[in-house]
Amino acid sequence: MDKIVIEGGIPLQGEVASSGAKNAALPILAATLLAPGIHHLSNVPNLADIRTAKKLLANLGVKFTDHEVLAVDTSRLTSCEAPYALVKTMRAAVLVLGPLVARAGEARVSLPGGCAIGARPINLHLKGLEEMGVRVTLKHGYVEAKVHRLHGAPIHLELPSVTGTENLMMAATLAAGTTVIHNAAQEPEVADLARFLVAMGAEIDGIGTDVLTIRGVQSLSPASHTIMPDRIEAATYLTAAAITQGEVTIRGVPCEHLTAVLDKFQEAGVRLAIEDSQLKVKPAKHLVGVDVMTHPYPGFPTDMQAQFMALMCIAEGASLITENIFEKRFMHVSELRRLGADIVVSGNHALVRGVRCLQGAPVMATDLRASASLVLAGLAAQGVTEVHRVYHLDRGYEQLEHKLSALGARIWRAKAD
Ligand code: EPZ
Repeated sequence: MDKIVIEGGIPLQGEVASSGAKNAALPILAATLLAPGIHHLSNVPNLADIRTAKKLLANLGVKFTDHEVLAVDTSRLTSCEAPYALVKTMRAAVLVLGPLVARAGEARVSLPGGCAIGARPINLHLKGLEEMGVRVTLKHGYVEAKVHRLHGAPIHLELPSVTGTENLMMAATLAAGTTVIHNAAQEPEVADLARFLVAMGAEIDGIGTDVLTIRGVQSLSPASHTIMPDRIEAATYLTAAAITQGEVTIRGVPCEHLTAVLDKFQEAGVRLAIEDSQLKVKPAKHLVGVDVMTHPYPGFPTDMQAQFMALMCIAEGASLITENIFEKRFMHVSELRRLGADIVVSGNHALVRGVRCLQGAPVMATDLRASASLVLAGLAAQGVTEVHRVYHLDRGYEQLEHKLSALGARIWRAKAD
């Protein structure tokens, strides 16, 4: 296993670009199953989760030609099963459920277990599919779904589940009749998927809102699409600049998708200049603790909670961080404490009291965004920090240590002892 070693205390300088969004590329890869033929996807990020998704689709008979543009040939499906071995490493594999049921009338997908950040059930996915006529049975840890012909239905999501909305929207594109999804997730990645589906010939109204109306069509055709930039990756580099008091320009930032995040950074004193899709970050004259609560989009994203907490560890004053989405998304707290942070957790609240500086130490990554948070804290800490189990990081960040060292950070990957 690898570790990432950081010598902290260096203000970052320079320019960095965000890659394609992992959480748009994953559902869009699944959506290619809806239409036989060759799709062309650009700006697909080079990440462990994307490699896992390609393995999963290859397992179903999909063929890939990977050049500058990724060609995805879904002409022939040879299986409708997403095996436990793959689903256990990436719960987003559940996104093949809707497309397989819509294309082949059946699917057998391993139930994703829980993960470090919470139980993460998929009951809303299954309930919606049943409302569209799918017969769902749970057998030996697998979801077995069968349907003769999907039919449109009014679906009210109890929670605005991101992949739940995506699975149901994909299934609805080939259903007989109209499906209306109420309380749909409004994350920009859901809208990017919807745009790809429309390019394939789907009829979808309400894109970007919490009510999606999908009029089913007889068939869809392969399409081309450029994956949107990754707003969470961009905000992670914003945090790296702020936590090291550096001056960095981040290119390809979908600023309009980050208003809740940018507002919080400015409230904390970080100076930002937004020019089109460029974000210039200047050091805060006075970094202060601010309170934040995570909410579904357009609220402050849960995927930025751990990173923002790292910044608050060295802000002046206190910051009350409330995690409203996942019940166990504070796994990074005990590791940040090893670096000298002063954080107290009570339920879904974490009270961070800023300290003058963090001290480097060996720490353990537990999930994707927690590992990013530990790298960020290491960039600010005095001395050497080692982040172990960085395979978590590789799931969602493309060459993070290379991009950070290009900004002047002293950071490298090494074999863990
Ligand atoms: C997506 O996960 C993202 N993953 C997550 O990003 C992100 O943190 C999350 O949305 C919230 O924004 C992808 O898009 C691949 P949810 P998802 O369904 O869809 C509960 C990252 O770091 N729920 O919106 O799994 C659930 O337990 C990852 O890139 C049910 O109860 O999240 C949670 O409390 C981590 N039943 C809440 O809803 C269901 O059927 C939101 O979950 C579905 C969800």
